[in-house]
Amino acid sequence: MNIKFNNHIYKINPYVPGKPEEVLKRELGVDNIIKMASNENPLGTSPKALEAMKKEITKSYFYPDDTYYRLKQKLAEKHKVTTDNIILGSGSVELIKMIASAVITGGDYALISKNSFLMYQKVIQEFAGEEYIVWIDTTDDYAYDINGFSKALKENDKIKIIFMANPNNPTGTYMNEEELYKFIKDVPDNILIVLDEAYVEYVEADDFSSGEKWLKEFPNLILLRTMSKVYGLAGLRIGYGVGDKKLISGLMKVRLPFNVSRLAAVAAEAALDDDKFLQLSFDTNKKGKKYLMKELSELGFRVIPSQTNFLMFIPDIEPIKLVKGLEKAGIIIRPLAAFGIKEAVRVTIGTMEQNKIFIENLKEIMKEFK
Ligand SMILES: Cc1ncc(COP(=O)(O)O)c(C=O)c1O
Repeated sequence: MNIKFNNHIYKINPYVPGKPEEVLKRELGVDNIIKMASNENPLGTSPKALEAMKKEITKSYFYPDDTYYRLKQKLAEKHKVTTDNIILGSGSVELIKMIASAVITGGDYALISKNSFLMYQKVIQEFAGEEYIVWIDTTDDYAYDINGFSKALKENDKIKIIFMANPNNPTGTYMNEEELYKFIKDVPDNILIVLDEAYVEYVEADDFSSGEKWLKEFPNLILLRTMSKVYGLAGLRIGYGVGDKKLISGLMKVRLPFNVSRLAAVAAEAALDDDKFLQLSFDTNKKGKKYLMKELSELGFRVIPSQTNFLMFIPDIEPIKLVKGLEKAGIIIRPLAAFGIKEAVRVTIGTMEQNKIFIENLKEIMKEFK
């Protein structure tokens, strides 16, 4: 092949997807796979969303309404903004890419934390180049070092964009309201702050705040939300951004028409109203998290307190041995070397039944090492 790619592309590591379930079953010789690797909702899809999709499916030969009028209306109500403050994406990852493509180019610097969502690095590599990433280490508790962010901004006046996940994936840690507000307030208004709140619906901490309430005060702040987690729509691919009208209209220029499918749009609209499902998902997660925290701590592992639907923990054996051991039982969790945390693994909180099977198997594996 003689085609030369755009120079930036050579440094990008492609995303490595998990193996398909059928392949795993065959390779492992198991009948069932318990997937606790991708932070999906273990209760499935919102029943209201399923109903809405059934009704919509016969209209699949029509393109979607490209204004996404009804869904945007609903989101505008939810966030107390107007529809021109909202942009939809085929998953929030698409929005992350759209934002980078519209805002940064070679020579612009971008500020991100280590041990965070990998897509930020990827899009910066694509649109600015690897050498333009300013990396901030996490603290000893695996939290974002917000003072490190502030310091980096003072030292580099070419930073144009900041990506932050609050709470963070894969650590589950969060920045509290006070520290985050203090930080955002001091960011110059020509630097875009992308605040990714993919796990916001699972937060329990009293001192947490969504960036929602600061949107009017800071036109250089954009909020990202996903329908993939608590709403149970990961397979449909839908997320959205909320921000200043001018910012959103700029992003709309790089959005491909019809980027969200009809089914995804109606499912999202219905899921947003499914209070019963949302409450059950939150409660199941809270209970499961408490159970797993206790069991994992009793096994002697360091467990990082989490505000999300997953837990990061540090086993006292090589993480990959633990991951492989669980895999043999058909349980899939995530090693975190790719996130720069080679000592840890991440497990998505499942149903109580899944959590118990996970712990039983983990105990068996650990016996071999004692
Ligand atoms: C922090 C964070 N942001 C965004 C996403 C992507 O979500 P989506 O499925 O909406 O693309 C994820 C998914 O794991 C995530 O962890």
